[in-house]
Order: sequence, then C-alpha cells, then structure tokens
Amino acid sequence: MSSKDPSAKVIRLSSRLGWRTHKSSGKTGEKPKSNARVIAITSGKGGVGKTSIVANLGYDFTKLGQKVLIFDADMGLGNLDVLLGLSPRYNLSHVIAGEKSIGDVLVTGPGNMKILPASSGIQELTQLTREQKIQVLTQLDALIDEVDILFIDTAAGISSNVMDFNATAQEIIVVVSPEPTSITDAYALMKVLSLKYSEKGCKLLVNMTGRPDEGREVFRQLHLVTEKFLDISIEYLGCVLYDDNVPRGVKSQKIVSQLYPDSHASKCFKEIARKISAMPPKNVPKGDSNLFWQHLVQNNCA
Ligand SMILES: Nc1ncnc2c1ncn2[C@@H]1O[C@H](COP(=O)(O)OP(=O)(O)O)[C@@H](O)[C@H]1O
Ligand SMILES: [Mg+2]
Repeated sequence: MSSKDPSAKVIRLSSRLGWRTHKSSGKTGEKPKSNARVIAITSGKGGVGKTSIVANLGYDFTKLGQKVLIFDADMGLGNLDVLLGLSPRYNLSHVIAGEKSIGDVLVTGPGNMKILPASSGIQELTQLTREQKIQVLTQLDALIDEVDILFIDTAAGISSNVMDFNATAQEIIVVVSPEPTSITDAYALMKVLSLKYSEKGCKLLVNMTGRPDEGREVFRQLHLVTEKFLDISIEYLGCVLYDDNVPRGVKSQKIVSQLYPDSHASKCFKEIARKISAMPPKNVPKGDSNLFWQHLVQNNCA
C-alpha cells in the first residue's frame, strides 16, 4: 500500500483515534463509500450560540452511541476548545502550514468526541486560498469513514470561507435567535445559499427563546419570506430555551449537557439530537466516496 493511498491514511488515523477501522473493500487504493453524516452549523449573525449547539449536540450524539467529530471551522476566532476546557498543542493553522496532519492535531473532548481545533487570532486563516481549502477538505475526507457524524462549526456571516464549508456539508443547520437583526441576517445567509450555492434546503434552529412557541414564530416569519422570494425550503428543527446554565457552563469550561443534564437547555439539546438522528440523512450525491470533493466541485465554489 503506497503512502499516497487514502485507505492507508484511514487505517493509520484510526489506530491513533482508537476507533475501529472501516471495513476494507479489499481492492488496493479503493476507498470505501462513507456513511457519515456531515452537518454544518452556521448563522448570519454572530453570538447566536453555534459553538454551544455544536458542542452539546456532539455530546448528545456520543450518548446515542455515535462516533462524533467536530471541525471548528471558525478559522480566525475558533473557540470550541476553550468552551470544552481543552488545551490543544496544535491546531488547524499547523495543518495549513503543512507542519502537521489533521490526525496529529485532533483532541478528545467529552464523551470521547474528537475535535479538530481552529486557531484564534490568525487573520490569514479567514481568507484561505482554494488550494488551502482543498488541502483541509482532502485530509478531512480521509477521516470521514471513521466517524458516524461530522459537525462543522462555522464562523458567522456570508464570507466565501464560511459558505464554502457550508456547501461541503450534506445538511446545513442555520441558527438564529429571536432578535430581528439575527432573523434578517439568517435570511441574508439563506439568500446566498440559494442564489450562489444552489442549496435547495436547510434546517432552522432557534436558540435563546423565551418560550417554546417563540421558536415556531421565528420559523413562520422566515418561512414566509423564503417561500415567497427564494428557491430554498426551510425545515423547523426546534428551539433551545434561553438558560443561564449555558453561560454558567462556559465559565467553568464544561458544556451544559454535562454539567446540568436536567436543565431546560440540556433537555432541548437532547430533544434536537434525537430529532436529527431520527431524520433520514440527506443523500450523498452519486459517484465515488470523496464527499467533500463532490460537493465542492458540484457547487463550483472552491
Ligand atoms: N440557550 C442559551 N441560553 C443562554 N445563553 C446561551 C444559549 N446559547 C448560547 N448562549 C450564550 O451565548 C454566547 C454565544 O454563544 P456561542 O456558542 O459562542 O455563539 P456563536 O458560536 O454563534 O458565536 C455564549 O456566552 C453562550 O454561553
Ligand atoms: Mg462560535
């Protein structure tokens, strides 16, 4: 098996992760088709709770017996590791510099989920070149067979860095808070997803609601305008109530689902994780197993 053989990479990484190696098809150089679900969590406006949602949903999925990988794709201001109380020695900037492979920089979080940490304060990472994006995605692609679910925690906004990572995912969850500015920014994001990236659907998660029916109301407002003006359908995923235990957990660098499993927010996260796992995953486009490449090429956005 040559060192360029992608399945060689998978086997090497799987032993590092301590996870079972994917069943080989037996044919040298052929990578088995991946069944992993790839979900991007994104938002128009910042500070609406993406990282908190990714961390808690990731943890809940480990409780459902799933192997979870979280890619912190908030390139310049990544803080998932801080939220989880991890102190990674290396991060994505070392991968991009060619100093480390993705397998070298992965760290283990609660529930044994694997985290690919981003760096913080390196502005160049917010403007990755096409080659750099492909370098990251190709390495992630080699890992994909080792996990059941990959969450991509994006930065906020509609920059090409964010949108390209959204476009690589099979499913996109747009996070919104009930504030009017967050709702209009979510609409702007969906507009770009639809017009520029030809996305036909996304899911909506309303965070920090005062009451459960407030989530439905935000969905209704967005659904009304997207249905009228855009060729994208939105599906309501649910809401997470505003809960002081979430920032309380952040202060002690532990996620709320771990620290306060019976809190309102933890129950909402659990319910949403259950709902996602019960939904059939969106089909991966036909062709070979190179998940990221397929999406990137199809959407012509690299
Ligand atoms: N459901 C919630 N209730 C209360 N505070 C929340 C909730 N979700 C997130 N937060 C708080 O909002 C702030 C921003 O959350 P974060 O996950 O970093 O957002 P983003 O990743 O979108 O920038 C954090 O201080 C976090 O504790
Ligand atoms: Mg964040």
